[in-house]
Amino acid sequence: MAGSQTDWGVLLDLTGPGPKHEQLARALRQAIRDGGLEDGVEVPPSRRLAADLGCSRWVVTQAYAQLVAEGYLAGHAGSATRVRRMASGTGPKAPARATPPPRYDLAPGLPDLRNFPRRPWADAVREVLANTPYTDFGLPEPDGHPRLRRVMGDYLRRVRGAAPGTVLICGGVTDGVTGVCRALVERGHTRLAVEDPGWTRLRRAAEGAGMTVDPVPVDDEGLDVGRIPAGVRAVLVTPAHQFPTGTVLSPRRRAELLAWAWDVDGLILEDDYDAEFRYDRRPVGTVQGTAPGRVALFGSVSKTLSPALGLGWAVLPPQWTVRAHPPPVVDQLALAGFVESGGYDRYLRSARLRYRARRDRLVAALGPARLSGVAAGLHLLLHLDGDAAVVVRRARAADVKVADLDDYRTAPGEPALVLGYGNLADSGVEAAAALLRRAMTTA
Ligand SMILES: Cc1ncc(COP(=O)(O)O)c(C=O)c1O
Repeated sequence: MAGSQTDWGVLLDLTGPGPKHEQLARALRQAIRDGGLEDGVEVPPSRRLAADLGCSRWVVTQAYAQLVAEGYLAGHAGSATRVRRMASGTGPKAPARATPPPRYDLAPGLPDLRNFPRRPWADAVREVLANTPYTDFGLPEPDGHPRLRRVMGDYLRRVRGAAPGTVLICGGVTDGVTGVCRALVERGHTRLAVEDPGWTRLRRAAEGAGMTVDPVPVDDEGLDVGRIPAGVRAVLVTPAHQFPTGTVLSPRRRAELLAWAWDVDGLILEDDYDAEFRYDRRPVGTVQGTAPGRVALFGSVSKTLSPALGLGWAVLPPQWTVRAHPPPVVDQLALAGFVESGGYDRYLRSARLRYRARRDRLVAALGPARLSGVAAGLHLLLHLDGDAAVVVRRARAADVKVADLDDYRTAPGEPALVLGYGNLADSGVEAAAALLRRAMTTA
C-alpha cells in the first residue's frame, strides 16, 4: 500500500511507448488496478511527485487530469487528489503470488529491465517482418539462423577476442550448457567440475543432463585448477568474471587450465555471462580465443537485454554437434539486425555508464562496508561479521531482497551477501542501502 514513505520512483514504472505523461498515467492506472494504490489514498501534490520522478510538473498534472477523466482519481479544487473509491482492484489483477515481490530487489541475476531498449528492439523486429524473404518463415534451422550465427561469430571475435568455431544459437547459457553436457554424456564423460561457489542453475542443468558435478574451490585467482579431481575431463568455469565472487581467472591459472585440458584430453565450458560490463579494469578476452579446440564458449542476452528473450549462443570446437533450443527466427533475426546496425553496441555503451553510476552510488550508500568484486558485472559481494542468513531474513522483512553467498556454495563459508544492482531502480539505491545497513546492525 502506498503511504507517505512511498518511493514513487519504485512503485511507478515509467517505461513503454508514448510521451512521459502517458507513461505516468499508465503506471498510475496500473498501480491502482493492482491495488498498489488503494481506494481513498492521497496521491502526492504534483510538484512533489514531479521532483521524485525527475520530470516536469506539467507531466504530472496531465497524467492526473487524464485519470480524473477516466474515473481512477478524484480531485477537487483546494483538496488533495485521491484514488477514487472502488477504483482500485477493478482491472485485471496480477496473478496471486505466495509472497509479494520485494520493493528493493538486490538478488543477482537480472539486468536493468526498466531500460530494456523497447524502441530499438521494436524497430529491429519491424525491419525483420518488412524485409525478410518469405523463405525464412519456413522450418527453422536447428543450429540457428545462418545470419545470426555469422553475426554473433563476428561480434564475439570483435568484442570478446573469440576464435572462429561452430556457432550455435540456443535459448541461453543454460540451454547451451545443457546441450553440451548431453553431448558429453553421449561421449562417455559423466563428471563435470564446477566452481564452488558457482551459479546453481548451471550446476543443476548439468545434473539434469546426466552428469555428476564435482565442486572445485575458487580463491582470489579464480578456479583452483590443481584441485580438479583426477578422472574428470570437463570443467565449467567463469574466467572473465567469476560468479559470484567477481574474481578474474589469473594468467597463471589460465595457463594451468589450458594445460589441464590438453593433459586430460578434456573440454572447458566457458560461461561468458556478463563480459560486456567492465568498469575499473580492462576486459579480459575469452579462453576460447586461445584454444578453440578445447573450449565451448557460452553467452546470452540475459544480462545485456533480458532473460525473457531466451537468446543465447555457443561457440563449439570443430566436430561437435549439440542439440539446443534456438529461439523464434524473428527474434534471432531481430538480434542479428540490432547487432549489425550498431544498436546493440550503442545500447551496451549507455547501459555500462548507467550500471557504473549505480554501482558507485550503491558503494557510497553502503558506507564503510567490506566489499569485493565491484570492478565489473552487475553484482558485488558484501562481507559480513555476523550471520548472513539472519541479515537476509531481516532485510527481507524490510522489503529488501538480497542473496546469501552460501546459497551458491556447497558448504557454508565466510558470511557474505551477493548484491545484484542490475535491476535496482536508481531512485531506490540509497533507500535500499539504508534498510540493508539497518538489517546488518540489528543482526
Ligand atoms: C553465472 C551465470 N551464467 C549464466 C547466466 C545466464 O543464463 P541464461 O543465459 O541461461 O539466462 C547467468 C544469468 O544470470 C549467470 O549469472
